Amino acid sequence: MTKKIVTLAGDGIGPEIMAAGLEVLEAVAKKINFDYTIEAKAFGGAGIDAAGHPLPEDTLTAAKSADAILLAAIGSPQYDNAPVRPEQGLLAIRKELNLFANIRPVRIFDALKHLSPLKPERIEGVDFVVVRELTGGIYFGEHTLDDDSARDINDYSADEIRRIMRKAFEIARGRSKKVTSIDKQNVLATSKLWRKVADEVAKEYPDVALEHQLVDSAAMIMITNPARFDVVVTENLFGDILSDESSVLPGTLGVMPSASHSENGPSLYEPIHGSAPDIAGQGIANPISMVLSVAMMLRESFGENAGAELIEMAVDKTLKQGILTCDLGGTADTAQMTAAIISNL
Ligand SMILES: NC(=O)c1ccc[n+]([C@@H]2O[C@H](COP(=O)([O-])OP(=O)(O)OC[C@H]3O[C@@H](n4cnc5c(N)ncnc54)[C@H](O)[C@@H]3O)[C@@H](O)[C@H]2O)c1
Repeated sequence: MTKKIVTLAGDGIGPEIMAAGLEVLEAVAKKINFDYTIEAKAFGGAGIDAAGHPLPEDTLTAAKSADAILLAAIGSPQYDNAPVRPEQGLLAIRKELNLFANIRPVRIFDALKHLSPLKPERIEGVDFVVVRELTGGIYFGEHTLDDDSARDINDYSADEIRRIMRKAFEIARGRSKKVTSIDKQNVLATSKLWRKVADEVAKEYPDVALEHQLVDSAAMIMITNPARFDVVVTENLFGDILSDESSVLPGTLGVMPSASHSENGPSLYEPIHGSAPDIAGQGIANPISMVLSVAMMLRESFGENAGAELIEMAVDKTLKQGILTCDLGGTADTAQMTAAIISNL
C-alpha cells in the first residue's frame, strides 16, 4: 500500500537537507520496492510566512493523516524578537500529535572518532539510545512568575511514565537488553513514582535488565564511560539536558537523527540540530542527519529494515571513503555528499 509521507522542510538549511534526504529515499525505495507519496507542507518560519502561524491548520491536518512525517529544521534570526516564533510550531506539533516518546540514537562513526571531544579510549564502543519523555513533566506543568517568586510544577501520572518506560524496554529488546532509568528519586516525588513504575514495567520484560541512576551521576557517566549505556530512559527535563549532552559525543550535530512516537498516530523523524542560519543557502550543510532520519522512518514506521540498513551502510562507507562536509573537516558540499551516499547504496 502506498505510504503517505508529509515533509516539513522548514527554515534555514531545512529545505537543502530535506531535498537530500528525499533523493536518498527515492534511490533506496527503488531498490526495496517501497511505494510512497510526498506531501510538502509549510512549517516553522515558513509556516508563519505562508499562513501567519508556525503550524498552519492545513499542515496539521496533513500531518495527522500521514503515515509518517519528516521534519528538517526550523528557526530563523528574523523571528528572534517576533511575537510568534517558529519554535512554537515544534511544541504545538508534539502536543497535537501526542508525540510522547523522543528517541535519539548516539553512535560514533569509526571515521569520525577524532572529532569527539572525548579521548579515543572513552569513546570506543559508544552506541546507545536516549529515550526522553516529551509531553509531560515540568515543561507542561503550571508556571507562575511574580516579582520575587516563581514556581514551575512538575507533574507525572503513572500512565505517562508506564508508556515511555515500555517504549524503552521494547527498544532494549532489539538491542543489548539493558535499560538505565534516570531519575532524582532521593529528592523528587515525581522521581519516586518514576522509579516505582520502572520496577513494575521491568517485571513485564524479564529478559531485559533494569538499572537505576540518579541524574547527576548519569551526567558524569555520560562523559567518563558512555559505552556503559545501552538504552537510557528519562523524564522530559532531564532528557532535554542529557540528550544534548549525549549529542556532543560524536563531535558534530550533523550526523544525528531522531524519532518521536505517539501511541497510535504517525511518528515524526528529524535531525537533532537546528536550521543553522550561519550556513543556510550555501549548499554546504551536512545532509547525514536528515538521511539517517529517513532510515529511522523506514525501519520504525514502515518495518523496512533492509532499506534502513542500506542507507546506514552507505553512510558508513561514504564517511570511510573520506567524503566529508565542512562540519566534519572536509570540503564536500551537500550535493556531493548526497550523491556519494546514493552511489554507495
Ligand atoms: N528542531 C529544530 O528545528 C531546532 C533545534 C534546535 C534549534 N533550532 C533553531 O535553529 C536556529 C539555529 O540555532 P543554533 O544555531 O543554536 O543551532 P543549530 O543546530 O542550527 O546550529 C549549531 C551549529 O551547528 C552547525 N550545524 C547544524 N547542523 C548542521 C549541518 N547539518 N551541517 C553542518 N553544520 C551544521 C551550524 O552551522 C551551527 O554552527 C534557532 O532559530 C533555533 O531556535 C531548531
